Amino acid sequence: MCGIFAYLNYNVGRERRYILEVLLNGLRRLEYRGYDSSGIAIDSDTSSVMQSKSKPYDTAPPVVFRQEGKIESLVSSVYTEVDQLNLDLEKPFLVHAGIAHTRWATHGVPAPRNSHPQSSGEFDEFLVVHNGIITNYEVLKQTLVRHGFTFESDTDTEVIPKLAKFVFDKARDGEGGVTFSQVVMEVMRQLEGAYALIFKSPHYPNELIACKRGSTLLLGVNELGGETSRHLFHDVKALTANDKPKELFFSSDLCAIVEHTKNYAAIEDDEIVHIKDGSVSILKFNYEKEKPASVQRALSVLEMEVEQIKKGDFDHFMKKEIHEQPDSLTTSMRGRLKDGVVGLGGLKDHMRTIRRSRRIIFIGCGTSYHAALAARPIMEELTDIPVTMEIASDMLDRKALIFKEDTAVFVSQSGETADTLLALEYALQHGALCVGVTNTVGSTLARKTHCGVHINAGCEIGVASTKAYTCQIVVMVMMALAIGSDKMSTLAQREAIIAGLTKLPEKVHDVLKLDGEMKALAQSLIDEQSLLMFGRGNNYATALEGALKVKEVALMHSEGMLAGEMKHGPLALVDEYLPIIVIATRDDSFSKQQSVIQQLHARKGRLIVMCSEGDASLVCPDGRSRVIEVPRVVDCLQPIINIIPMQLLAYHLTVLRGYNVDQPRNLAKSVTTQ
Ligand code: F6R
Repeated sequence: MCGIFAYLNYNVGRERRYILEVLLNGLRRLEYRGYDSSGIAIDSDTSSVMQSKSKPYDTAPPVVFRQEGKIESLVSSVYTEVDQLNLDLEKPFLVHAGIAHTRWATHGVPAPRNSHPQSSGEFDEFLVVHNGIITNYEVLKQTLVRHGFTFESDTDTEVIPKLAKFVFDKARDGEGGVTFSQVVMEVMRQLEGAYALIFKSPHYPNELIACKRGSTLLLGVNELGGETSRHLFHDVKALTANDKPKELFFSSDLCAIVEHTKNYAAIEDDEIVHIKDGSVSILKFNYEKEKPASVQRALSVLEMEVEQIKKGDFDHFMKKEIHEQPDSLTTSMRGRLKDGVVGLGGLKDHMRTIRRSRRIIFIGCGTSYHAALAARPIMEELTDIPVTMEIASDMLDRKALIFKEDTAVFVSQSGETADTLLALEYALQHGALCVGVTNTVGSTLARKTHCGVHINAGCEIGVASTKAYTCQIVVMVMMALAIGSDKMSTLAQREAIIAGLTKLPEKVHDVLKLDGEMKALAQSLIDEQSLLMFGRGNNYATALEGALKVKEVALMHSEGMLAGEMKHGPLALVDEYLPIIVIATRDDSFSKQQSVIQQLHARKGRLIVMCSEGDASLVCPDGRSRVIEVPRVVDCLQPIINIIPMQLLAYHLTVLRGYNVDQPRNLAKSVTTQ
């Protein structure tokens, strides 16, 4: 849930100001992951800080800056403190290692003392930034307290640097030295939970160590003055067998790396990456073995453009991402629809198993769950396989039944959501075929599933998921087409859907023209306390997702409901004040929705009806309700069209109500804790 970042320049002179800006900018890119506090650590000058104190090392002590609030409050406090410490911002470093963190609080309130880097104590002998959760921190803390350590924060993370110091001191008291990676390896041996960590220590100046178990960790490599070599690197200095100037980065997300380099490696669980003297070694930790094995890895090339992580002409990422949907959908389908046939390379080898499965289970959380719900009817229709739905956390709570004859489809934009990943572990243990649908190449979900499809929606930075939602639906519709492609009985239907997919970006472009209308609707709802959305069939998911968008960004209570359930309770809420959006676009459920509208009218309901273009008089014969007319597309794609006015409504409501659109209160984009 937090974001970690590190920058190490080697054999290339960088002023302190530049280093600070790279670190702070890295945090700006990761801010969507958590934004209640942040911090960085850089080197001071040997001469300027703590010179009088007898520090236990000869090198420059690190300076740690920590601040509560958004990154910009860290930025201003950093420059004020730099001034107070008399640190020379123009001082160049030929080699320097800096670390940074942005936090979404889990253990302890947002406060400087709970922000990262967390420290081993006096003299900051070990500093750590952490994304994830240490589950056995209490036991570790008690042990460390018994050994004389005092704790300053309420975090689980603080045990890590203290444990590192404990290990280091113990090794130093014995014979011979201890390397940075040996210290970290011993720390890893003691830790339980999920984490990605970056360590910095004045005992190991200009070195950095990162390791991970569960949480995503990426390494970026930028060799300056020539092409980055793509050869393998391992424990010998192969990555950079020369002293080439270079910049190395660690990050929780590629979007913090893309503006520096396109060469990256995704670090696997239990790997330790050690950067020393400009070379990178990757070691594989093993509980059983004293000595780690060295790992060989080739660099991958990032297919992401810098524009994706910038707002461009838009005021907010959410708005940009809503308006990007014609393009993101095109990219999602690119190369996958050829001559009326759907080709999904990632599923090819498992198609026979999927077709033979006893059932398909869709598993996800929040918006990703809704996307699966939207695709469920067509998946059942085209494949003749029963499809059940599971919210990942509920599946785990119930220890739901899952069999080896099942195909479990895990849907996650980030590929990092803890609940979804735990459900994946559970399904793997029960022998089900596990399929991933994710936006994040190299994510844990992508790596741990047997097969899958990337949605290729592009980087989504706004915390509220928009373009990923519509791309997820498109991908699952394509999956349904591919799985069901052996059935002659549905050939005509499949051809119609493929034709519909081809025209979809154009239709999405058309529906985006409702922007102004949605702003006017938002204006009329700005002071409301509550909003209901009714949908059914293909658009039950639209009602749930529309309501989720409104509640998460506009901070307005909003409920999506199955229209068929209306008369079983929710009807009691209806009066002339409560705004109710009814989704009544054309499909099999249209006539049923017409009667829902009549029943609501009969109770003087304040209705806003979404209908297909030209149907206004059918859904609102007396002209009393507000109508949103949207383009008609094939039934299974209609949820993609219908959600867009709801996304726009949520966006405008938020701006008009004066709330933060891209970083809503209490939320963060990837929920890596249970
Ligand atoms: C809402 C939203 C969340 C996520 C949910 C799952 O806009 O983004 O509901 O959909 O936290 O996240 P992923 O898809 O990354 O697994």
